[in-house]
Amino acid sequence: MLDDQNSRIKNSKQVYIESYGCSMNFADSEVVASILSNEGFQTTAEMKEADLVLINTCSIRDKAEQTVRKRLEKFNAIKRVNPKMKVGVLGCMAERLKEKFLEEEKIVDMVVGPDAYKDLPNLLQEIESGRNAVNVILSKDETYGDVAPVRLQSNGISAFVSITRGCDNMCTFCVVPFTRGRERSRDPKSILEEVDDLAANGFKEITLLGQNVDSYLWYGGGLKKDFNKATDLQQKTALDFAQLLSLVAKQHPGMRIRFSTSNPQDLTLDVIHTMAKFDNICNHIHLPVQSGSNRILKKMNRLHTRQEYFELIDNIKKIIPDCAISQDLIAGFPTETEEDHQDTLSLMDYVKYHFGFMFSYSERPGTMAERKFEDDISEDVKIRRLQEIIEKQRVHSRYRTSSYKEQTVCVLIERESKKSKEQWSGRTSQNTVVVFPKENYKPGDFVDVKINDCTSATLIGIPLGISKTI
Ligand code: SAH
Ligand code: F3S
Repeated sequence: MLDDQNSRIKNSKQVYIESYGCSMNFADSEVVASILSNEGFQTTAEMKEADLVLINTCSIRDKAEQTVRKRLEKFNAIKRVNPKMKVGVLGCMAERLKEKFLEEEKIVDMVVGPDAYKDLPNLLQEIESGRNAVNVILSKDETYGDVAPVRLQSNGISAFVSITRGCDNMCTFCVVPFTRGRERSRDPKSILEEVDDLAANGFKEITLLGQNVDSYLWYGGGLKKDFNKATDLQQKTALDFAQLLSLVAKQHPGMRIRFSTSNPQDLTLDVIHTMAKFDNICNHIHLPVQSGSNRILKKMNRLHTRQEYFELIDNIKKIIPDCAISQDLIAGFPTETEEDHQDTLSLMDYVKYHFGFMFSYSERPGTMAERKFEDDISEDVKIRRLQEIIEKQRVHSRYRTSSYKEQTVCVLIERESKKSKEQWSGRTSQNTVVVFPKENYKPGDFVDVKINDCTSATLIGIPLGISKTI
């Protein structure tokens, strides 16, 4: 009886988790929810009911950090009414600011870096007894491969599966190598088990996640940079990204496989051929280029030239003619001239990306660019260049969506359309959103849809029937 009561009390704690930034953060929050569920916490969508409020943060641009600070103000207001509520900061901002967070934001009780989530049970005990708690130790081998994520805000159809953590690339503008540590790959066995589990639970699409997935390399554990110290046998039996992709695709022919993000310098022809070989690997590559100017690419420490990027694009188009390519671009990196900016615009004209994510340069403390270069492009110029880039992308996106008119595409239904209760929303293999009348279809169905209209971001069509492909 007492045990029963205890377990009920133990199970009655509520955690509210809010996530910002990249997909990896959203995937990490699912790992955190899993670790906390073993401590008797259930997730709640109501912050006011929570005993513990966690915010998984992003440091990539100053604006991302400002958003988090604003949210902390909001948490503070609630904590005033409910002083027992504890607040924890997770993720990249926790790692970047460490103990400073506790001084700067008095309401924060706990600061936990991206590699320290398994220490949460201990940290929670600390804060329960009224002390602040911090763990921001970065790890050489933590991949959370042994934690089965608790799917949060899931549509039950698509899920993220992380395959690498950290990044060794050291792009000069980027804070990620400092906040997420060195690159390490996750045991393929645990990756496959996670995908098996998702398939068994009816999921239809997975996205393999990493800051730089193409550099995945499993040789029995350890950092990527220590591969040369591995034994002969480890080196000979190592598994790279193309092989991993192939294993996953073969094991689950009925599931769509996506991956993100690809760094141009690491995307191999092997990967492109593997994509071409398997129908269930989606025809989309997110291939951030950051700039079209060789001079700026070099200053960014991106290890490829504009010409090499074009060669890669040509190869992708040759091997997978209907492959969609998307970009990340930065406007106004230090010393960027009008000519450099024009190089970016002309690179865009060459590729005609399906879509992209475009940013103005934000100087990040501790990065190489912050230490070596002056942030010398005025805000006005950055914004003007960014707008030109966005406008060009809009034209290209429209060009891409228009090209699907009168064609039949296979759509995986994900959810109800935000704009109409009578319509489903899903995506094509190329990752373009499609909306169409619901009829008798349901989320999780693969449906052939004839496209009759479009905007720059969305295809609009009529369903023809359940698809024979995916
Ligand atoms: N490889 C990562 C990249 C993470 S950052 C991934 O998995 O997506 C995502 C994008 O943010 C980068 O590609 C870059 O375009 C942009 N970005 C990174 N640092 C930035 C900065 N200091 N200012 C502006 N944009 C930045
Ligand atoms: Fe950042 Fe470059 Fe890695 S953008 S995440 S350092 S590939």
